[in-house]
Amino acid sequence: MSAEKSEWESSQFRKYDLNLEEIPRLHCDDPRVDELMQKNQPVLITGSNLVKSAVDKWTLDYLEKNLDKSNHTVFVSRNHKFKYFDEKKIYSKTSPKGVEFSPPTKRVEMKVADFAKKLNEWKRGDERLYLQESLNSSMGSTIVEDFLKFNWQFVTEKKNKYHWGELTSNVLFVAMEGNVTPCHYDEQQNLFAQIAGYKRCILFAPDQFECLYPHPVYHPHDRQSMIDFDRPDYTKYPKFKNVKGCETVVGPGDVLYIPIYWWHHVESLMRGGPTITVNFWYKAGPTNLEYPLQDHQKVSIMRNVEKMLLEVLQEPKEVGPLLRTMVLGRYSEP
Ligand code: OGA
Ligand code: ZN
Repeated sequence: MSAEKSEWESSQFRKYDLNLEEIPRLHCDDPRVDELMQKNQPVLITGSNLVKSAVDKWTLDYLEKNLDKSNHTVFVSRNHKFKYFDEKKIYSKTSPKGVEFSPPTKRVEMKVADFAKKLNEWKRGDERLYLQESLNSSMGSTIVEDFLKFNWQFVTEKKNKYHWGELTSNVLFVAMEGNVTPCHYDEQQNLFAQIAGYKRCILFAPDQFECLYPHPVYHPHDRQSMIDFDRPDYTKYPKFKNVKGCETVVGPGDVLYIPIYWWHHVESLMRGGPTITVNFWYKAGPTNLEYPLQDHQKVSIMRNVEKMLLEVLQEPKEVGPLLRTMVLGRYSEP
């Protein structure tokens, strides 16, 4: 166990039986940051001052005073997990007929004052809340001022150096202590900037695909692992036993680089109050098909094949049998 990790009471971590290494924690001037980012490897970056204008300032109180008084998007869960789902895919024509999807969380619109009140009065057994919303120019002049003072030079340098595409959004995450975002991957580069409280982030490389069993692409839980980390079903998902990952704890001022297609599980720790994060999501850069392909490019190819088969077969149930017929004894052992 590293020095950083041993500072943490193990009781603050949820217990998972996982094989995890520590993500390197490096000062932004350390040349090893570049070596890692160049290779699409995660790194925890300190000293960047990326969101310095918000660190020590943005608290639940401050957001209540300064975020605009209109409604904001809040997810409500009966447990600690907030598993993302794509609402558009619930009603899509390729959803298997007869299979009901029951959303694990409820999306509601709420004033920040009501959100803050619920957090302050929360007691065990109550529903949990998680505010998640893209920052925009109508979110209150003081918040916008703080936002404009972010260290844009730092992120723009990264974007240019690694040939990322455009910045698509900055999502503001305000979580109750103990909330968990279950394991998933995104199709964007992410600079995950922690403002308040502490989050444990567990990451897995794209080559862990087989061990993490993502839902099929047509499913509302596309890009999410089917495994419940609290109670893994090793009979259904035996390779989960072999999964190898890495982890870190992000605190105020830290920036975690979550490379595109890397799996991540995020838990807000029971220390330091509600957690506040702003992420910086960038589109993938232009694809250069240099061989051998990188693991994340293979995941992208698999997604496209899955989508294409669904498009032509129209019936999700037919995808598996067709693929099996295609590979058995020809591209695989019998
Ligand atoms: C992300 C993400 C979840 C969280 O930024 O991509 O999944 O709980 N965040 O912070
Ligand atoms: Zn994510």
